[in-house]
Amino acid sequence: MSEKIIGAAKPRIDGPQKLTGRAKYSSDNNLPGMAYAYGVFSTIARGEITHIDTSVAKQSPGVIDIFHHNHFPKLYHTPSSMAQENKVDEVRLPFEDNKVYYAGQFVALVVADTFENARAAAYKVKVDYQKSAAIANLDQAVERNGSKMQKKSNHTRGNPEQAYGSAAKAIDATYYTPVETHNPMEMHATVAAWNDGKLTMYDTTQGVVNARNVYAKVFGLSQDRVEVLTPFLGSGFGSKLWPWPNAIAAAAAAREIGRPVQLVVPRQEMFTTTGHRPETRQRMRLGTDNAGRLVSLRHETVYTTSTVDQVDTYVESCGKMTQGLYSCDNLSVTHAAARTNRGTPTSMRAPGAAPGMFALESAMDEMAEQLGMDPLEFRRRNVSDTDESKGLPWSSNQIREAYDQAAQRFGWAKRNPAIGSMREGNEIIGWGMASCNWEAIRRPCDARVSLRADGSAFASCATQDIGTGTYTIVAQAVSDVTGVPLEKIEVELGDSSYPSGPISGGSWATATTLPAIAAAGRKAIEVLKEYATSENGAFPDAKPEDLTFEDGQLKNTDGKSIGFAEVLKARQLASADGEAHTEGAPTETYAFRSFGAHFVEVRWDPGISNLRVTRVVSAIDVGRAINALTSRNQVEGSIVMGIGMARFEQTDYDHRDARPVNNNYAEYLVPVHADQPDIDVILLDYPDFKFNEFGARGIGEIGITGIPAAIANAVYHATGKRIRDLPITLDKLM
Ligand code: MOS
Repeated sequence: MSEKIIGAAKPRIDGPQKLTGRAKYSSDNNLPGMAYAYGVFSTIARGEITHIDTSVAKQSPGVIDIFHHNHFPKLYHTPSSMAQENKVDEVRLPFEDNKVYYAGQFVALVVADTFENARAAAYKVKVDYQKSAAIANLDQAVERNGSKMQKKSNHTRGNPEQAYGSAAKAIDATYYTPVETHNPMEMHATVAAWNDGKLTMYDTTQGVVNARNVYAKVFGLSQDRVEVLTPFLGSGFGSKLWPWPNAIAAAAAAREIGRPVQLVVPRQEMFTTTGHRPETRQRMRLGTDNAGRLVSLRHETVYTTSTVDQVDTYVESCGKMTQGLYSCDNLSVTHAAARTNRGTPTSMRAPGAAPGMFALESAMDEMAEQLGMDPLEFRRRNVSDTDESKGLPWSSNQIREAYDQAAQRFGWAKRNPAIGSMREGNEIIGWGMASCNWEAIRRPCDARVSLRADGSAFASCATQDIGTGTYTIVAQAVSDVTGVPLEKIEVELGDSSYPSGPISGGSWATATTLPAIAAAGRKAIEVLKEYATSENGAFPDAKPEDLTFEDGQLKNTDGKSIGFAEVLKARQLASADGEAHTEGAPTETYAFRSFGAHFVEVRWDPGISNLRVTRVVSAIDVGRAINALTSRNQVEGSIVMGIGMARFEQTDYDHRDARPVNNNYAEYLVPVHADQPDIDVILLDYPDFKFNEFGARGIGEIGITGIPAAIANAVYHATGKRIRDLPITLDKLM
């Protein structure tokens, strides 16, 4: 059983619920007496509200109340600690004062009997502002106020400056990535309900436990008086990791009016008040010896943050992977924040690494060219066998194997290195490659598993399924330990009252949750053995330690076996229950990362200025993939998102007033079906048992890292144009 179910290509067990519409997302909850809230959003990016006139709006049909800074309950701050699991990105409370820090900030909240009435009234709220000059982008921010070094996220070893000065070959190049917006299909939504001083939140969050703790802090409640429910998510990509003002505003409004309140963040404000990937400028200086060994590597990042908080809550850690991927004695990575009048940035799929690896892997390509060396060979020569930033061995690193397998499948050996030399018809073919890299993290976790008298099993954990298949892999782990087939396993996630589980983020949900599930399953089996060996049990003469459990059967030393359902029935017991706590990974002993390589083909038609990404071959080393189908989906989705990053995505802000100008699905471009290349994903299978008993490191984010660089490198090979600022729009190639 065990070998088959772990690693099997199983479709999502929650698929039927989603396809039939039975899966309830946050805004699908219609509670009795529920009112609807709609925001009024700031039209300026910096300044103060001088007056709010609600007189006309209040006469609008169905209006119950209108909240703003002069009419809103006093709330408490959360410490916003990741370690304590009460983190928010925007530390300021909604309607805390009359200050405006970014366009699209909540300045008022209309609550009415219907959504339409709330929205209609919101348009009638008149807000007067005292406007100040807004800082619209990175250049303006640096020019006016400079940037602030984020020392804790920096790293230096050796003497990179000196080594650069004496390097045989060197490059110095600066790369740029724009703001990107997460744009999950499901918008941020909350249904907040108060009953006898207890708060229930049907909330779109990637972390029900963290969200529960935040709401408890903000409303001054014990954690036991708050329940956050997120059984399903229409993704999040990081924008739903930590609560934003909308959820807190909804809960406060519900308490004030004494009715449940639903609040959905409109798509436009999904671009302003629920986070984004910040703008970055990254200077890369690389030096090598004549044999193509790196002797100096510097990666300096300046990124944008907001002016909302006095504390710097977010670091876009572009240099994190650079610290350890390649071997280099003289290395430094730095990160500095520059403040703009935008909402607070946050993690977006492979935060830091997605823009960081664009710079690093583009620079590696430029360095290889400078050396006259094949870019793959250059990387092979510099791969690091330890994490030199930590002085620790990798738990497992199969990047060389990833290079080999992907290069072989792609046909890299047939690449003619001369620019523009590979042609077919009207098109010039470009081939490029890049490494990919992402940290593997495993955190403490609790879980519960029951074996039940009807022959089924049950598992619960306060983590969530962001859409990636967490329900399914939890069921696989239960099946692996108990022998119960998938169809007879019920999994409950997305409720903060379950045993504490991880956020769906950082690619750590799988590695964190499954060991706790397995441990809880084994506890349930121990409990079952106790039940079986009691006086009126199924094996009254045996001791628990004499019994073995396999494929759902208890077996004694004589070879007699009885299924767990029978064992429970013999005692008239409903279930045998196990609960377990597991710890994080041994980070003192090993450095844990996932590795891989992308090979990309682009086709450039200079006659009609058309660029296509036509083929991607990726080999990914994530330890063991728990589910071959959903794992592949994750990497494919990441690659598509990487194509979006490379070619289309950018949130534009008007440089005059810092207002986003393409804050909608029509003008914020993402890849469509016609943009999809042929994608071939090779999942290397080297289980990492130093990380956890399943050998799984996590797979949600690594795929996007390196893709933009691989595409830029392929574009260079086809066109001779080195595009250092994303996205690679056609005007940059003409
Ligand atoms: Mo991911 S950016 O940790 O949701």
